[in-house]
Amino acid sequence: MKTTTDFLAMKEQGQKIVMVTAYDYPGAKQAEHANVDMILVGDSLGNVVLGYDSTIYVTMDDMVHHAKAVKRGAGNTFVVVDMPFMSCHLSVRDTLINGARLLQETGAQAVKIEGADEVLTHISALVRAGIPVVSHLGLTPQSAAVLGGYKVQGKDAEAARKIVEDARKCQEAGAFALVLECVPKQLAEEITSILAIPTIGIGAGVNVDGQVLVYHDLLGYGVERVSKFVKTYARVNEAMVQGIQAYADEVRNGIFPTDQHSFTMNEEELKTLYG
Ligand code: KIV
Ligand code: NA
Repeated sequence: MKTTTDFLAMKEQGQKIVMVTAYDYPGAKQAEHANVDMILVGDSLGNVVLGYDSTIYVTMDDMVHHAKAVKRGAGNTFVVVDMPFMSCHLSVRDTLINGARLLQETGAQAVKIEGADEVLTHISALVRAGIPVVSHLGLTPQSAAVLGGYKVQGKDAEAARKIVEDARKCQEAGAFALVLECVPKQLAEEITSILAIPTIGIGAGVNVDGQVLVYHDLLGYGVERVSKFVKTYARVNEAMVQGIQAYADEVRNGIFPTDQHSFTMNEEELKTLYG
């Protein structure tokens, strides 16, 4: 399994870091077989798996439940778990308890935290306690209500400067990597060149140290609309619906099951049974 220092080395060597989200056992197994560098148990869980329209409804228990399944499927891959809405804001003590839970109860390797400002002291407390932290700046979905929706961040110079400053502060606080979501590619490139820690982009252009995409988005699985920054590499939803439809048709027409899918008793036993 890779370590936080391996990711730093990958940046230094110009080797791109591949991250994908996973939320369950089969998805994690697929990601590990595909040899990704890092798996994220994202709180996008709320949207793509649980059917909410926001990540703010995702709880610590939800994250623990899904991260456990992911670790069972990807025991040899570095797994990062999102700290859900409000799990790292109340007090440093609460943050430490929640961060520890995400690692101890699931076997994951690190946590991810949205934002800077008030959470910087929490990031450094986690790192000092031995919990690796990935920071997440730019579009931070847990604050979408405050940001006024899901839109590109850092488009004007002032907003861009603030993100650069925050990125520096997250690194100083001890984060070992930074996810940059939905920011202009020039800004992501600038932050990538300034920071020693690797940047992992999603809607941040190609000049970052790695990329992350949501499993369901990249596979075309159960999502109707995807953002501009998503590339869909497969269309598994159609195959799945077709499979279920074929099954339904065969059941309705008495085609399934055949003898091939049925069990039998021998004649002697049948006679004994009915006398
Ligand atoms: O929850 C998530 O999937 C994420 C990625 C989009 C970075 O935070
Ligand atoms: Na997230």
